[in-house]
Amino acid sequence: MLLAMREAADKGWLFIVDGGLCEFRLRLDKQITIYTIVSAKPGVGSQLLERLFEYGCEHEATFVQAKCPADLPSNAWYEKKGFDLFDVEHTKRSGRKLNVWRLSLAERQSGWSPSLNEMDRRRLSKRPESRSFSHVLAGESPV
Ligand SMILES: CC(C)(COP(=O)(O)OP(=O)(O)OC[C@H]1O[C@@H](n2cnc3c(N)ncnc32)[C@H](O)[C@@H]1OP(=O)(O)O)[C@@H](O)C(=O)NCCC(=O)NCCS
Repeated sequence: MLLAMREAADKGWLFIVDGGLCEFRLRLDKQITIYTIVSAKPGVGSQLLERLFEYGCEHEATFVQAKCPADLPSNAWYEKKGFDLFDVEHTKRSGRKLNVWRLSLAERQSGWSPSLNEMDRRRLSKRPESRSFSHVLAGESPV
């Protein structure tokens, strides 16, 4: 785990601030995945998230995604911070329920407010030809 964090640090995928840290990956398909976000001081979680959003915009990332065990209180935090519940998975070994939270950086930047309801958006986003909602927003057909 420390080795993985060291590798993340070498790539610029580790933010450490007074009172918390955020370790993430920027994938080739431009999705940011949060691996760890921890705050020991109120406000630090939001501060780390803002920095991550800035990083995402600078690197033209599309989504920020985080998987959070369903029984943790931090699920409510992701929701409060504007993430959508995109999927629910189960871990292979223990079968623990994992909530998959997603936030679209494009939508966040444009201040876009969805006209589709959440279930429609999730269903659309899961179709292989429409991993992003951009064509829906632009009123185009999926390619
Ligand atoms: C989740 C976590 C990173 C949030 O960090 P934080 O610094 O406490 O969060 P912030 O203070 O920036 O929170 C911003 C807002 O969310 C609220 N909030 C914080 N934790 C919350 C929670 N568990 N549920 C709902 N709202 C929450 C805050 O009250 C604040 O509200 P306000 O804007 O109305 O004042 C932190 O609680 C933590 O480290 N948890 C343990 C590790 C963890 O579970 N990480 C996620 C793994 S999936």
